[in-house]
Amino acid sequence: MKILITGGAGFIGSHVVRLFVTKYPEYQVFNLDKLTYAGNLANLTDIEDSENYTFLKGDIVDAAYLDEIFSVHKFDAVIHLAAESHVDRSITDPLAFVNTNVIGTVNLLNTARKHWADNLQDHLFYHISTDEVYGSLGAEGFFTEETAYDPRSPYSASKASSDHFVRAYYHTYGMPVKVSNCSNNYGPNHFPEKLIPLAIHNIKNEKPVPVYGKGENVRDWLYVLDHARAIDDIFHRGKIGETYNIGGINEWRNIDLIELLCDLMDEKLDRPKGQSRQLITFVKDRAGHDLRYAIDSSKLMEELGWKPSVTFEEGLSKTVDWYLQNTEWLENVTSGNYQSYYEQQYTDR
Ligand code: NAD
Ligand code: TYD
Repeated sequence: MKILITGGAGFIGSHVVRLFVTKYPEYQVFNLDKLTYAGNLANLTDIEDSENYTFLKGDIVDAAYLDEIFSVHKFDAVIHLAAESHVDRSITDPLAFVNTNVIGTVNLLNTARKHWADNLQDHLFYHISTDEVYGSLGAEGFFTEETAYDPRSPYSASKASSDHFVRAYYHTYGMPVKVSNCSNNYGPNHFPEKLIPLAIHNIKNEKPVPVYGKGENVRDWLYVLDHARAIDDIFHRGKIGETYNIGGINEWRNIDLIELLCDLMDEKLDRPKGQSRQLITFVKDRAGHDLRYAIDSSKLMEELGWKPSVTFEEGLSKTVDWYLQNTEWLENVTSGNYQSYYEQQYTDR
């Protein structure tokens, strides 16, 4: 089977690519990535020479390019992760999110539909999305697959739109699709603009750790490898036309999470207990900041037998260790060096 994974140089995509390349040597895995600021081939150095792995540098907004690679490689299935993914960036530049997340997704759907027309039913378009499409919860309740969409940030609005297009291609054209909506991920390779890696980076360097508002917003955190395992399960055994919610059963208020992280890093860095908490700095709240996300994953757990494999304490400890050991990765990413390094190796279209 030839699988096109989009966004495979990013945070979650790199774990999905690695899992598929190593677990399924019989598959040919193609990683299509534009290498935006968030794409980093250093995330994949351990598998880049694998015989069943090919990197394709390109932009999903470029329909002619997609047509060309579908003609050449004849993909059987797509796992679509490429996206602009950061809520704060979407607040300052919504159009970038419309371009990649909406137009890019529709380009991929159109191209797949055209190239798969003779035997559409033998193919699969699996779209990776977020729980943020469901909007914001109060203190009680969980998002289920039946929760009505109510996106409230430009990011979640663009992801909701892409989800609707994927389902529209299922209903209108009979395209075999699957969709999953996952809660906040954390783990190795996470770009340090998101809360957990940013906090680790700043605590390590004894810089202020910005907490938006009063830190009372709640997120449900899932270790990224557990998301990759869920994607594997849904890709192989999920039902066509269905949606699966994926969550960590692991809700934390931001301030409690940051305090936990500060204490963990004090231990790991041999600092006096309580020292890193002094770095916590409350800053102006994010515009339209969603209060709480919480996911009910019982459909995925009951139908496919998936469950998270690590506790939050284990996952967070592994994550901090990874960032403390991979200082070069972190320095390159924060200085932007990796882009110029890789831009020399791959020609842009
Ligand atoms: P990321 O920002 O780390 O990676 C995105 C990747 O997509 C990068 O490698 C980037 O270069 C690539 N990309 C961006 N625009 C592109 C384009 N026009 N053409 C080709 N490639 C392009 O994102 P992530 O956190 O790994 O998220 C991956 C997917 O999972 C996204 O669709 C996101 O919405 C979804 N998701 C993320 C989370 C999370 O907590 N991070 C949770 C649920 C769902
Ligand atoms: P983030 O990692 O950006 O993910 P998302 O917005 O997709 O949930 O933010 C996680 C939570 O942390 C969210 O409530 C916003 C908050 N936050 C901060 O308090 N400080 C920060 O510096 C960042 C980046 C986020």
